Amino acid sequence: VSAASASPLGLAVLGLGGMGEEHVRRLAGLGEFRVEGSFDIARARQERARELGLRPYPSLGRLLADPAVSVVLVATPNDAHKELSIAALRAGKHVICEKPVALSSAELEEILGEAKRAGRLFTVHQNRRWDEDYLTIKRILEEGSLGRLWHLETRVQGSRGIPGDWRKEARRGGGMLLDWGVHLLDRLVFLLPGPIETVYCRFHYPTGQEVDEGFHLLLSFASGQAALVEVSTCHYQSLPLWLAVGTRGTAVIQDWELHGGIVALPGRDGALGDAGREGDAVPIAAGAGLTKTMAPRAAEAEVRLPLPVVRADQRDFYRNFAQAIRGEAAQAIKNEEVTRIMRLIEASFESARRGEAVRFEG
Ligand SMILES: NC(=O)c1ccc[n+]([C@@H]2O[C@H](COP(=O)([O-])OP(=O)(O)OC[C@H]3O[C@@H](n4cnc5c(N)ncnc54)[C@H](O)[C@@H]3O)[C@@H](O)[C@H]2O)c1
Repeated sequence: VSAASASPLGLAVLGLGGMGEEHVRRLAGLGEFRVEGSFDIARARQERARELGLRPYPSLGRLLADPAVSVVLVATPNDAHKELSIAALRAGKHVICEKPVALSSAELEEILGEAKRAGRLFTVHQNRRWDEDYLTIKRILEEGSLGRLWHLETRVQGSRGIPGDWRKEARRGGGMLLDWGVHLLDRLVFLLPGPIETVYCRFHYPTGQEVDEGFHLLLSFASGQAALVEVSTCHYQSLPLWLAVGTRGTAVIQDWELHGGIVALPGRDGALGDAGREGDAVPIAAGAGLTKTMAPRAAEAEVRLPLPVVRADQRDFYRNFAQAIRGEAAQAIKNEEVTRIMRLIEASFESARRGEAVRFEG
């Protein structure tokens, strides 16, 4: 059955806050799903459902008892994901859950156990796998213009602090490692496949919140490669979203508008000739000193390439899940992948607590 001819799946939203409402917008006109309604514990958000032309279910129980609903989308604060996902699976619904899927890998195992018992599909909205900056850096690495990648940085930095809602509370699963870290790590492991040997994490608390307001996370891979993952809510100037450093070139993606580019050695045969590392190095005055090592390369000894921009449609996430429910495709976001990232986040919390690097895999 093709997507066009299959009848849309009835979907209901649990938690019609900022993201719940965004899901409703994104699902509109998609064809695969028909949004039946929503339930939110806040009266104002029940009112909002009416404004949006949705049916506000009077209770969670009534929503789960509606046979027209075959998919439940959980978009509540993080501490309610587990309980609500399990309730929906027990009611025989397929579930899309917001990220971070849960507060621990143990909670996630409970959810997955329930999905198995119920024979229903469960997936997590790791939508940033459809970010164009990520897909563009992925293409650069696949194209090989950087030579052998040895260091990769991925970050997001803002200056507005953590929003003053549940995101500031530890017991509700607040903090930036769970909020943004889960996205950045989820994608990083596709760029650097293979075992992660150690994890070192340091949290930042520049304004003294009870949860991490940002972090530095350093990952060492069995391959010898390394990655730096950074999130900050107290940076008034931002470093690039991506920095990929290979033996023959460096790529930078500055921002979500995809400013940036690649600087690489010309040619791919490794013969540096006059453009070589040693040949053109002449000492230059730099600050109060002199340096040959850090002298910039001559313009003719490098090539500057534009970013090979990849375009994407994040609604492919929903299309894929509808196909998976109909048995036409494998889930794009695999639960094993989400489990590994939850464990990596736990190892990061442990590292931050102990103040030292911790072993992860291999
Ligand atoms: N994937 C993304 O790009 C993305 C972006 C933003 C937020 N999120 C995730 O979406 C989730 C919601 O975030 P948000 O920014 O929309 O938060 P929010 O505070 O704006 O909305 C949460 C809503 O859930 C409701 N709620 C709380 N407990 C409930 C319960 N037990 N039953 C029903 N409703 C309940 C609240 O009243 C609120 O309206 C979080 O898990 C967050 O991490 C994901």
